[in-house]
Amino acid sequence: MTILDEKYARFESQASDVKIPCFERNGRIFDMIISQQLNRPILDDIYRITGRLRSIAKSKAGSVFLQSVLAHKRAMLYFAQPSSRTFLSFHNACHILGMRTSEIRDTSVSSEVKGESFDDSLRTFSSYTDLIIMRHKGQNMAERAAWLLNNFSNRPVPVINGGSGSDQHPTQAILDVYTLQKSFEFQGGLDGKTILMCGDLRRGRTVRSLSYLMKNFNDMKIIYAAPTSFQMKEDVCQFLQRHNIPYRMETEALENALPEADAVYMTRIQDEHDEVAGESNRTNISRFKLRLKDMAIVKASAVIMHPFPRRDEIDVAIDPDPRAIYWAQERNGMWTRAALIAYIFNVHDQIMNY
Ligand code: NCD
Repeated sequence: MTILDEKYARFESQASDVKIPCFERNGRIFDMIISQQLNRPILDDIYRITGRLRSIAKSKAGSVFLQSVLAHKRAMLYFAQPSSRTFLSFHNACHILGMRTSEIRDTSVSSEVKGESFDDSLRTFSSYTDLIIMRHKGQNMAERAAWLLNNFSNRPVPVINGGSGSDQHPTQAILDVYTLQKSFEFQGGLDGKTILMCGDLRRGRTVRSLSYLMKNFNDMKIIYAAPTSFQMKEDVCQFLQRHNIPYRMETEALENALPEADAVYMTRIQDEHDEVAGESNRTNISRFKLRLKDMAIVKASAVIMHPFPRRDEIDVAIDPDPRAIYWAQERNGMWTRAALIAYIFNVHDQIMNY
């Protein structure tokens, strides 16, 4: 164990859902690493900025103005794991704000292939850029990057977690809650709603991060629909208990829970995390797919969501149903991520006052 590993281990053991000071500067979010960092006022700010960005960007003059806001900053997109939406939405979010971008999407073309450590690679990225947006297959690697740069680098640039192992994907949760709030705008908002999450809950970082965000809303209920072997892990369940958020597990069939749901959040099986090849195939998930005929028992006011990519867990025949909002959800990602970046760089007042 290096000195850094020891320090990191200590930091990790202190990680809680309360507050992680090293991710903040002057009481503001600096690094965006885990959903537990987000409270209601921060979310409300990010969503207000999102709305403003969208309306400003509708005109050419507005878009040109937005591109001046962070024209003096550069971002590094370090995606050491496959990505379409998260990469493209962050890439374009940076461009909306005028940031220039560099990218590594495959560690086989970086010096990691020559044996460079993760830590040295991250310090190198911080030498050239002003923001690191990263996705990594390892748990807690975004946390490690933030810890490293905050403590050992002369250029401690902010780190945004674009997905860390099977652990967290906080910016997906930000866009998911934005999508939910917009959907329930005329139904009293997200408070009091029942969110049904289905699929690979054990290894799905999107559903984990989304569950943590529920602490910011009142009278929420969660239903986790998955076979026992894919059910939500104990750490998230304990968090919900600590925050008095009622949840139950449906392990027989998705349809048993559908009539109660205000939002149905489907996910794919995360078989890239299989410890033994083909392990996921041993569990029968046929009763945890959303079929066209199931839509008859879904509330008329409910919404169907999916972080994508989808396989066959949502029948494509459902796509024309107005309750299917996953394509809008996907588009929301770019705008909420641009808002988050503006928030981190503290330039949102310029945008709000435009
Ligand atoms: C998710 C991810 O990478 O965790 N995708 C995404 O970012 N929209 C979900 C998945 O891969 O299943």
